[in-house]
Amino acid sequence: MTRHRIGIIGAGAIGQLLFQQFQQLLTNTPPLANGLWVQLISREPESVQQSLCFTDINQHEQQTVVDVLGQHSPEIAKLDVIIVCVKAYQVDDLINELLPNLAPNCHIILLHNGMGPHINLAQRLLGYPQMGLSLATTSQGALRSAKWHIAHTGIGQTIIGHYSGITLKQPIKNILLKAIPNASWHDQILSALWQKLVINCAINPLTAFYQCRNGQLANDEYKAEIKQIIAECITVAAADNVELEMLACHELVYKVIALTSNNLSSMYQDIYHQRQTEIDYISGYIVARGTHHQIAVKANNINLQRIKRLEAQQKSPS
Ligand code: PAF
Repeated sequence: MTRHRIGIIGAGAIGQLLFQQFQQLLTNTPPLANGLWVQLISREPESVQQSLCFTDINQHEQQTVVDVLGQHSPEIAKLDVIIVCVKAYQVDDLINELLPNLAPNCHIILLHNGMGPHINLAQRLLGYPQMGLSLATTSQGALRSAKWHIAHTGIGQTIIGHYSGITLKQPIKNILLKAIPNASWHDQILSALWQKLVINCAINPLTAFYQCRNGQLANDEYKAEIKQIIAECITVAAADNVELEMLACHELVYKVIALTSNNLSSMYQDIYHQRQTEIDYISGYIVARGTHHQIAVKANNINLQRIKRLEAQQKSPS
């Protein structure tokens, strides 16, 4: 029997959510999941048996005991695919630790907010000719109320697509698209990632700086700022050969603000809990690419500096 071995590394809210969704596929569609083996992998060195609690979208709660692999487990060498669900700023270090232990033909999928780590990784994978890299973005909502308890809070959309190297095998693609609700394969993955980046550039730093829920950004006082952020993103995207349309991006940003009006954005939460944010990979990515192309990106730079200041205040003793 062919085995498809999928690992999900990063046991945060999205990592645990994906793991639960694969578990549901195993339970509900055994023929499709025939030969499927899915492992949750934490950043801890050792494997542990863990009781995971999952509240699904219909508020049903279930508890399962599973082996959560440690990052150094020899099982990692058997994976066909590894889905990397850590924060953008953790990707480089994690990949450095993982690469020597992966199978020579393992396929890597990056799934995080923001953009940037794929560039270095694709470059590194040139030395691994049997490997491939896909990128993904998701707007599924997951709330982590305790280390091993997550709730699925919003169906959202997940988009996956090929970026470099060897392409993902069709049977594994089918499994991913079946397991993750509302998931689709996109041939133009960079365009999808850029659209998500525009949303994150408009919502995340503003909600973190003004300390508000996403919905408050629909108020008139933020209109000019949001418009300028979007316009700068579109200009930079065009210089990077990705065509985005102003009206469509504008509508998309306000649609997400409305759909997630009650949400506290991930950056709001990071600042609130005094954690490092993903600003370098959100507004910071626009500033870096803008600088590269000599394009002025004032509004995104203001946001980058604002959030950097908030992060610095967390570090300095008051
Ligand atoms: O980072 C986030 O919080 C989310 O990507 C989004 C879409 C802005 C909703 O809160």
